[in-house]
Amino acid sequence: MTQGLLCYCRAGFEPELAAELAARAAQAGFHGYAKAERGSGFVQFLGEQAHAMAQAIPLRELVFARQKLRLLAELRGLDPTDRITPVLAALFERAAFGELVVEHPDSDAGKPLAGLARAFGNALRPALRKAGLLAAQDDSRLPRLHVCLLAGDHLLLASGHPRDASPWPLGIPRLKQHADAPSRSALKLEEALLTLLDEGDRARLLRPGMTAADLGAAPGGWTWVLARHGLKVTAIDNGPLRPHLFDTGLVEHLRADGFQWRPSRPLDWMVCDMVEQPRRVAARMAEWFREGWCRQAVFNLKLPMKKRWDETVLCLDLFAEQAQRPLRVRARQLYHDREEITVFAAPAAP
Ligand SMILES: C[S@@+](CC[C@H](N)C(=O)[O-])C[C@H]1O[C@@H](n2cnc3c(N)ncnc32)[C@H](O)[C@@H]1O
Repeated sequence: MTQGLLCYCRAGFEPELAAELAARAAQAGFHGYAKAERGSGFVQFLGEQAHAMAQAIPLRELVFARQKLRLLAELRGLDPTDRITPVLAALFERAAFGELVVEHPDSDAGKPLAGLARAFGNALRPALRKAGLLAAQDDSRLPRLHVCLLAGDHLLLASGHPRDASPWPLGIPRLKQHADAPSRSALKLEEALLTLLDEGDRARLLRPGMTAADLGAAPGGWTWVLARHGLKVTAIDNGPLRPHLFDTGLVEHLRADGFQWRPSRPLDWMVCDMVEQPRRVAARMAEWFREGWCRQAVFNLKLPMKKRWDETVLCLDLFAEQAQRPLRVRARQLYHDREEITVFAAPAAP
């Protein structure tokens, strides 16, 4: 029986996710090992006590996982004329799932399976309902069944817990690029606000009239996102901002060094997308919190080519230590991140 976790990640970052899962499992006292292939877009972390291990490693605490599921079975050598019977057999006597997602890894090998995933989902859904394995109507309170197609004759079955899995297929939120967004980077901050903040955070922490600094702002994508929420933004960059940003009346541009500039009074937000050594950025971000210059922040850490997991741990530890105050920190390699991770930090709940 296959037991363990199935996590999706950016293709090429399987070693980082494997290292992260191994470290987290060991910290929580679980034995297991990662099964991963570079470029595949997913990692299996196999081990016993999978249920307890899954609970000990929540998705929100993982940096390199876009999605976290519990493995149920691996089916190989499937007959292309009947993939449904073995799936039903593998799920025999399980409680009904709330929804079905048929997907494929976000990788070169996985993408050509998109058409098959759609067709198979349409065929499997009524068969699962007939077998009592799927709720008659989609029910988001129940575990979701994920079918991850790896090839025409090979798939993984996994379940997603409603409160501990991404709601989006493959953990990728579909965000549309706005015509007037100054850069594609705007999507990065939009995704960060959607993924790293919960609904309550967004309602409480993003309100018109709040103040923000954007370090490394040009051409202005992140500034644009904040101004759309009605925040007053001081954009710091020696480079130019797109002129239409100033039409909002909410944006001030200062040509200054983002590592030197500091606000004259405390701000609600600081965001930072400066391309710099991650340790230097982490230390400066910590200084902002230590000095009380902002209440919360979203910042990017550009990762080096090698030892990216080690560097991630080092930078997050350095940040937490040097901030010298209790913070709630969430870090994630977002879908719109490339060789980088995005961090959200806010005061820890009292
Ligand atoms: C990736 S771009 C930022 C894109 C921006 N977030 C957006 O959404 O359009 C990085 C920016 O950081 C700026 N930058 C790098 N080092 C800086 C520094 N020391 N002070 C201020 N800006 C800096 C660069 O000029 C560049 O415009």
